[in-house]
Amino acid sequence: MNQQREKFSSRLGFILISAGCAIGLGNVWKFPYVTGKYGGAAFVLIYILFLVLLGIPILVTELSVGRASQRSVAMSMDVLEQKGTKWHYFKYFAMAGNYLLMMFYTTVAGWMLYYFIQMASGGFGGLDQDGVANIFGSMLENPALMAGFMIEVVLIGFGICSRGLQKGVEKITKVMMVLLLLLMVVLAVRSAVLEGGEEGLRFYLTPDFSALKENGILEVLFAALGQAFFTLSIGMGAIAIFGSYIDRSRSLTGEAVFITLLDTSVALMSGLIIFPACFAYGINPGAGPSLIFITLPNVFNAMPGGRLWGSLFFLFMCFAALSTVIAVFQNIISFGTDLTNASRKKVVFINLVAIILLSLPCVLGFNLLSGIQPLGAGSTVLDFEDFIVSNNILPLGSVVYVLFCSMKMGWGWDNFMAEANSGKGLRFPKSIRFYIQWILPLVVLFVFVMGYKSLFF
Ligand code: PHE
Ligand code: NA
Repeated sequence: MNQQREKFSSRLGFILISAGCAIGLGNVWKFPYVTGKYGGAAFVLIYILFLVLLGIPILVTELSVGRASQRSVAMSMDVLEQKGTKWHYFKYFAMAGNYLLMMFYTTVAGWMLYYFIQMASGGFGGLDQDGVANIFGSMLENPALMAGFMIEVVLIGFGICSRGLQKGVEKITKVMMVLLLLLMVVLAVRSAVLEGGEEGLRFYLTPDFSALKENGILEVLFAALGQAFFTLSIGMGAIAIFGSYIDRSRSLTGEAVFITLLDTSVALMSGLIIFPACFAYGINPGAGPSLIFITLPNVFNAMPGGRLWGSLFFLFMCFAALSTVIAVFQNIISFGTDLTNASRKKVVFINLVAIILLSLPCVLGFNLLSGIQPLGAGSTVLDFEDFIVSNNILPLGSVVYVLFCSMKMGWGWDNFMAEANSGKGLRFPKSIRFYIQWILPLVVLFVFVMGYKSLFF
């Protein structure tokens, strides 16, 4: 089945696609609203700390498992585990995570697409803040509209995947990522100098630790953990698959650091774009998932050439979202081809239909099913699905990867080190084995358990 595994055409392809998988709605949509909700700069500091101390090593373990096994998470542990162990059951957990992620991701990606079209066709022209907020509100009330855009996202995503790894995924994602990085810089500079935005910069950049107490430090840590793992795509094999498409010419630590730097710079720049704008237009940074949709059109309305910049912005947000959707679809498709004998075509078709159906609850959760509020008053199906993925599957799955790579009864430390360190570039330090095997998993589990306690008990 797997004799001739496809490969990326270049290292740049690998970096940009892994970055494309990492950089997405997590950076431009979720990072600003979670940061806004949990008090700004102090949250950002904790988030960065988690990225460095937990995120990067976990990313190395995942990429190593992918590269060593040459398989997706559907088969990787079967290939690498010691005989007689049961690590391979992890595949069900991880695969469920990938589907669950897409169940809400496609909806938000659809919002981006809708906003791009609205911007480009002048739909926000001359509207005041209430008018802008109304556009978001009426979109949420309209299930057919939202489902339409969600379906479009799914079709585009599978359309690109079905052209193959190099001709589809790699080629398109490369271009999208480069354009996105350039535009972010331009807009961050433009928004940072917005009149009345200084207070936003202060909120975003000067830590105020009393904000942590307000939300409860444990809840903030839990949120930062979820956000750090979400943004790097770690814990369910979504990024591991790209390790399986590269050769051993580069050590994986260097690649992981590079991917993290790219991802973090896009997240930090989104903050620079959004927070000055919130304060300049009197929008509460704690507004939640709607934040960028009710804030940014105001910025573009007030900006010379705003319609053009706004269209570009939302177009590139679509790129960011799509590059992640494509990455996860690629992963999902390889579950099918790794586990069954079905042709790629058939696997694509079945998943296309499945993901459209699975994405409907999230769409309907804002209108027909808005009575379902799984996480308490005002919460939505989206919040719930996101919580299950970001705060449950990713942290627990990350612990599994780390233990698998460090424990004797797993793949084993020596095998992991040999894989991570083969090739040129940064070495994974041998001396931190104790940290990796014991401290890292315990920190993650501690934040997880205490986070649950503070949220629900
Ligand atoms: N990292 C992606 C983002 O920031 C989301 C993601 C999470 C993708 C987990 C794959 C796996 O948007
Ligand atoms: Na990200």
